[in-house]
Amino acid sequence: MNGAADILGYTLFYMLPALVANASPVLLGPGHPVDFGRVMGDGRRVFGDGKTFEGLVLGLSAGVFIGVSEATFWAPQAFAVYAAALSAGALLGDLAGAFVKRRLGLRRGAPAPLLDQLDFVLGAYLVSAAASAASGSGFRVFGDVLPLSTQLDVVLTSLYLVPLLHLATNAAAFRLKLKPNPW
Ligand code: CTP
Ligand code: MG
Repeated sequence: MNGAADILGYTLFYMLPALVANASPVLLGPGHPVDFGRVMGDGRRVFGDGKTFEGLVLGLSAGVFIGVSEATFWAPQAFAVYAAALSAGALLGDLAGAFVKRRLGLRRGAPAPLLDQLDFVLGAYLVSAAASAASGSGFRVFGDVLPLSTQLDVVLTSLYLVPLLHLATNAAAFRLKLKPNPW
């Protein structure tokens, strides 16, 4: 049996690579856009200037670094692989979210409630579950690193905990003048 506080702790711990991968690119200045500045048939950018190669490299490196540290000291070693998958998935999910925002005609940085907070979480889960399936552990977010019931708790908790955290960290980034908007 896990208490509520345990579940919050597990959720933060096991989602940390994805959270760090998603949050660290904000520290960068302008970079080279992933879409090379290309515009689609609707007259809008594919992803926009907010998605850069530098951001992908920093996000993946930071997420993997955190995950490998967690796996070295506190988690089963197999978590290192999931950390890489969660980080890559978070960045891909964020790219997909930007793609959707541009198609909806939203400017870079315009708020898209829930999409902004959950695109990277869903991307992280999809890629991580694919890594689990590829390694023969079934289509599970954390393979056999965690009992299935705990995985379910972590996934469900993250769906509301991550949006709350995201709002809090973005508000902090805004106050530190790292972001032009508090969302
Ligand atoms: N960033 C980056 N490369 C990425 C992701 C993010 O360089 N692959 C940086 C950009 O400077 C971006 C900032 O991190 O502005 C914050 O990311 P996010 O909030 O996802 O981007 P937005 O500016 O809100 O842009 P969008 O509307 O496209 O989501
Ligand atoms: Mg985003």
